[in-house]
Amino acid sequence: MAHLFVPGPVDVAPEVAQAQTKPMLPHRSPEFEALFHACEQRARALFFTQYRVFISASSGTGFQEAAVRNLVRPGRRALVGVNGAFGKRWREVAATNGIPVDAVEAPWGQPLRGEAFAAALQARDDYDLVMVVHNETSTGVENPLAEIAAAVRSTRPEALIAVDSVSGLGGARVEMDAWGLDMVFTSGQKALALPPGIALAAVSDRALERAREVPHRGWYFDLLRLEKHRLKDSTPATPAVSLIYALDVQLDRILAEGLENRFARHAAMAQKVQQWALARGFDLFAAEGFRSKTVTTVTNTRQIDIAALNAYLQEHHGMRIANGYGPLKGQTFRIAHMGEIQPADLDALLAAIDAFLQAA
Ligand SMILES: Cc1ncc(COP(=O)(O)O)c(C=O)c1O
Repeated sequence: MAHLFVPGPVDVAPEVAQAQTKPMLPHRSPEFEALFHACEQRARALFFTQYRVFISASSGTGFQEAAVRNLVRPGRRALVGVNGAFGKRWREVAATNGIPVDAVEAPWGQPLRGEAFAAALQARDDYDLVMVVHNETSTGVENPLAEIAAAVRSTRPEALIAVDSVSGLGGARVEMDAWGLDMVFTSGQKALALPPGIALAAVSDRALERAREVPHRGWYFDLLRLEKHRLKDSTPATPAVSLIYALDVQLDRILAEGLENRFARHAAMAQKVQQWALARGFDLFAAEGFRSKTVTTVTNTRQIDIAALNAYLQEHHGMRIANGYGPLKGQTFRIAHMGEIQPADLDALLAAIDAFLQAA
C-alpha cells in the first residue's frame, strides 16, 4: 500500500528495493557491462527514442547542468521557459554556469505556450538552446511540450530543445523523436519509482554534434565523455551499481505494465484527485487543460491547516502529502499520484483526508 503521496521520493516496490541488496559487481566487468547495456536499451522505450540514454549517478539536476554546459556554444544564448520553481532553477543553473540566458515567462499555474517561444526566437537569432520543464512540480502544470517543440522547430530549426521531465517521464507521455526533442531527462525518484540517486537522459545525435563545438563542457556531465563510455557499456566514473540493479527490475515491471496502460493509470488518478478536490469545495491551481498527470496542486480555498492535515495523515494512516512549494506553502497542497500508486491507494488517501475535514 502506497503511503508517500509527495512528488518524490516515492514508494518503491519491494522487489525493486530488494534488488539493491544483491552483491556488488566491479563496474569494469563483463557482467556489469551486460546489465548496463540491457538497461540502456530498454530505457529508450520510456523516452520513445532511437537515440542513446545516459544513466547517471546523480539526481536530475545534474542533467539540468549538463544541458547548459554542453549545448550552448561560446557567444550564443539559452532560452528557458519559466512558469514555476523548476524553470526558475534551470535559469539559475544556466546563469551560475556563465551561460547567457533569457526567459519566456508565464504566471505560476498557467502553461507556457508555443507562440511565446516563437516570438522570443524571432526577436533574436543567437539562441542555441531552448529549455522547457515538462511537468512543473511546483504548480502541477503540464506544459504543452509537443506544441512548444513544434513552435521552436518551425521558427528556429537549428535551436536545440532540452526538456526536464523529472516529474513527468514514465507517468506522462514524452515522445522525444516524434516531437523533435534533443535532450530529455528524468530522475529516478519520481514517476519511475526508484530510490533517489539515479537520473536518466536521452540525447539526440544533433545534441552530441553541438557538444563538439563547445570547448568547456566540464568533466562529470560531459556528454561526449558519457557517450564514449556508453559505447563500451560503461560510465566514465563509478556508477550507482545497486540503483542499476533496481532499474533493471523496475524497467521490466514498467514495460510489463505497458507505457500506454501506465499513462492511462496516471491520467485516471489525476482525474480522480481533481474531481475530489472540486467536489469538496477546493479549487485547482493549474489551468484547466494543462493539469499534471502525476501531481495535483489543490488551492486551499477552505483555508485548512495543511500542517495539521499532514500530521493527522502521518499519525493515523502513515501517509504523507506535500504542502505547497515555496511561495505557495499554505495556499496550496499537493497530492502526487505517480509511480507505484494505484487508484485504490488514492481512494484510501482521499477517504482519510475526508475524515480529517469532517472532524475539523
Ligand atoms: C521539475 C523538476 N525539475 C528538477 C527537479 C530536481 O530534481 P532532483 O532533485 O532529482 O535533482 C525536480 C525535483 O523535484 C523537479 O520536480
